[in-house]
Amino acid sequence: MCRALLLSRLALSLLLLLLLVSPPIRISEAHEGHDEGEEQGGGCEMSPDVRVVAEYRPGVVTVDGHGDEWADIDAFEFALLPALDFDKDKAYADGKIAMKALHDGRNVYFLLQVDGQYMYTKGDSSSCPSVALMFQIGENATYSNMGGCRKFGAECSSLSCQGHEVDIMHFSIGNAVPGRLYGSNPIDNQEGTGADRFGHLVDLYSWNPHCRYVDGKGPSGPLGNESSAQNDWQGAWWHSAFTVHSGFVENNSPYASAGQKGTYYFEFSRPLRTRDRLQQDVQFTIGQVSKVAVAFWYPDGGKPWAKSAHYSASCDWMPMNIISASSSYGASRSRGAWDAASAFSLILSGVALGLSVFVVYWVSKVKSVPFTPIDRL
Ligand SMILES: *[C@@H]1O[C@H](CO)[C@@H](O)[C@H](O)[C@H]1NC(C)=O
Ligand SMILES: *[C@@H]1O[C@H](CO)[C@@H](O)[C@H](O)[C@H]1NC(C)=O
Repeated sequence: MCRALLLSRLALSLLLLLLLVSPPIRISEAHEGHDEGEEQGGGCEMSPDVRVVAEYRPGVVTVDGHGDEWADIDAFEFALLPALDFDKDKAYADGKIAMKALHDGRNVYFLLQVDGQYMYTKGDSSSCPSVALMFQIGENATYSNMGGCRKFGAECSSLSCQGHEVDIMHFSIGNAVPGRLYGSNPIDNQEGTGADRFGHLVDLYSWNPHCRYVDGKGPSGPLGNESSAQNDWQGAWWHSAFTVHSGFVENNSPYASAGQKGTYYFEFSRPLRTRDRLQQDVQFTIGQVSKVAVAFWYPDGGKPWAKSAHYSASCDWMPMNIISASSSYGASRSRGAWDAASAFSLILSGVALGLSVFVVYWVSKVKSVPFTPIDRL
């Protein structure tokens, strides 16, 4: 009797275990029928599984815009929906954005990969694709309204909007040569700002969409000696239609003929910690979770985009785990979509359920299992 009980308990725990390890189906859709007048993000319904993981993988990637070295890193895929009208019927037509992240203990690296016909107009960034990353700094900073501080114009300040700070990296490629490094540079860093006069890969912060500044500047202009601001980001871009790999110069613009199908790559790095003293940079900590959002602009139909008219990978902050070298991500691995592994584990759980029902039935049927005292073995 005792053994039967033990066996059925074993079967039950096996079943529970199987149910637990099978990855959940991930859905990151917004509400349908977003009500008029509803506050932005109010209709956001995001699966708790939506997240990004940055594993410790030193010496794997070079920030050159090429995606090849990232082949072994897991991608987190998200549909791109209009940020201000998060409606899946209005998704970016050429597919999802894939985000990859890793760190080497000092810097964190990102790859954004999105399919799109080649579009490039030199000097006109709004006629080129563009990407931005946004991170929560202040504990009360909301995804919607870029921090969500309710002070505007002369009223918004580091005091009145305290707790609502978000950190933004925006790369506009109209003046950026593919494969070349932009962002942090000695001239803008000497001036103590997050600007980038060469490629427009800028380091910004904001309290809401109307109170948004490059690091080191504020509502009343430069922050002067107060600021130790730097542009802490570096990045490069690429498109799969390019054939020359030895190095482009500006004269090669537009680098490939327009309209070719392919994939855009945007690659970035930033130190985990920066010298910011003004709540203008997010600080990353190994083993902790940060909050991230991804924006993508595309000149749909060749029409230049407007700043507010961008796609977003989510309708709220997405957690980003920066995991330590010693912790394994494999155990909690799950992908951006219902994939073969999930299907397989569902089948497996089904089989296990059947099996355990059978075992329980069999055990309860074979009631006369004789008790074998352990000392007789
Ligand atoms: C965030 O909001 C809570 C509740 O309103 C408040 O108690 C807290 O002080 C705020 N945090 C900051 C940093 O302003
Ligand atoms: C900034 O530093 C300079 C010299 O280092 C000093 O003369 C000036 O008063 C400082 N300004 C402020 C606002 O602290």
